[in-house]
Amino acid sequence: MGALGAFSDGGLLVENERIVACGDYSGLRNAHPDAPVRDWRGGFLLPGLIDTHVHYPQVRILGGLGYSLLDWLERHTLPEEVKFASPEYARAVAAEFVYALLSHGTTTALVFGSHFAPAVAALFETATRSGLRIASGLVISDRLLRPELHTAAELAYQANKQLIACFHGKGRSLYAVTPRFAVSTSEALLEVCQTLLAEHPDLRFQTHLNENAEEVAQVARLFPWAQDYLAVYEQFHLVRPQSVMAHSVHSTPSEIARMAASGCTVAHCPSSNAALRSGIFPMRRHLDAGVHCALGTDAGAGIGFGMLTEALQAYLTQCLAQDSGFPLSPVHLLYLSTRAGAKALGLEREIGDFAPGKSADFVYLVPPERSPLAAVARHAPSAEHLLAAIFTLAGAESVRETWIAGAPVFRHAALR
Ligand code: GUN
Ligand code: ZN
Repeated sequence: MGALGAFSDGGLLVENERIVACGDYSGLRNAHPDAPVRDWRGGFLLPGLIDTHVHYPQVRILGGLGYSLLDWLERHTLPEEVKFASPEYARAVAAEFVYALLSHGTTTALVFGSHFAPAVAALFETATRSGLRIASGLVISDRLLRPELHTAAELAYQANKQLIACFHGKGRSLYAVTPRFAVSTSEALLEVCQTLLAEHPDLRFQTHLNENAEEVAQVARLFPWAQDYLAVYEQFHLVRPQSVMAHSVHSTPSEIARMAASGCTVAHCPSSNAALRSGIFPMRRHLDAGVHCALGTDAGAGIGFGMLTEALQAYLTQCLAQDSGFPLSPVHLLYLSTRAGAKALGLEREIGDFAPGKSADFVYLVPPERSPLAAVARHAPSAEHLLAAIFTLAGAESVRETWIAGAPVFRHAALR
């Protein structure tokens, strides 16, 4: 992971969308006396936050407390997702969604799209207009949700092909094959996913895995030939580098070992795991086995779009997890909310930190006047202390600006 690099009076040299250097301000200034300067004093720059699991059609149903997963889907969430059959509805929510990410300092996200192709197109178009970097795709299912959300295998193949042709690798957009979860996808549909990945090896892949005990039992009933939940996806060659499996709360030692060997990523979503009473993520078991872990807000089952808050939730949950818990430091939290996501998406050469050559994606945090964060920041004895306080105290009100590829994509409303 490497240690924390921090500068109390730092400089970030940006040219043509990319970071040229990051270091002490006076040294950079002397080396580049003619470069124009923007004075950021009074705040902090962090690499852009990377959310590896978030649902675009769930913006308007955030805060549905009191459910567990299958109940929450059936009664709270799927009725909302049906509305995305309307492209106008989808466009309106896409704007809310993209704004929500940027205003929380998120510069890249792996996004669960909608079950409707025009709604997915609306998301890609809105993200492209804003500058936001996303990987996303058509959510596909062909059973056990509700008929309006089901897509037969042949249609799913065609719709995916069209969306891939329109959006994959265009600007900052990437396409992710997205079966909702094994419960709602037949073998025929999983075979479509396999075909798509074989035809386009650089696509990303995302789904849910071992989130909830009832869901795991249902998968065992639906796929009696599978040794466990992961084996369903493995059967169709869907578990590989650049596959992101959300949750993995109930994975067995064998599943964890196989995920480690595959090079896939687990997107840990702590606030969702608590809110839906899914369970506590056994992070230590995953890390000990060598599974790559990143972080996702899982909004709308999670508590919002803030990756800093989500990282704090990971810290708090792991404190309560006893022997399966992993003691996360502020540096771990920064890693989980930035560079871990870049690696999950195969974008570690492009984003994730301030290394020279990477895209200049960053968030400018300014503690609101008289806020507790402002008080802590004035007195923090070290960069680690300050970073811990940022994760503990900084919400959207502290996000003054968000920049992607050297251009501002969000400014706090009070300043526009
Ligand atoms: N499993 C299948 N669909 C969903 C979803 O929308 N959210 C979560 N958290 N889990 C799921
Ligand atoms: Zn999810």
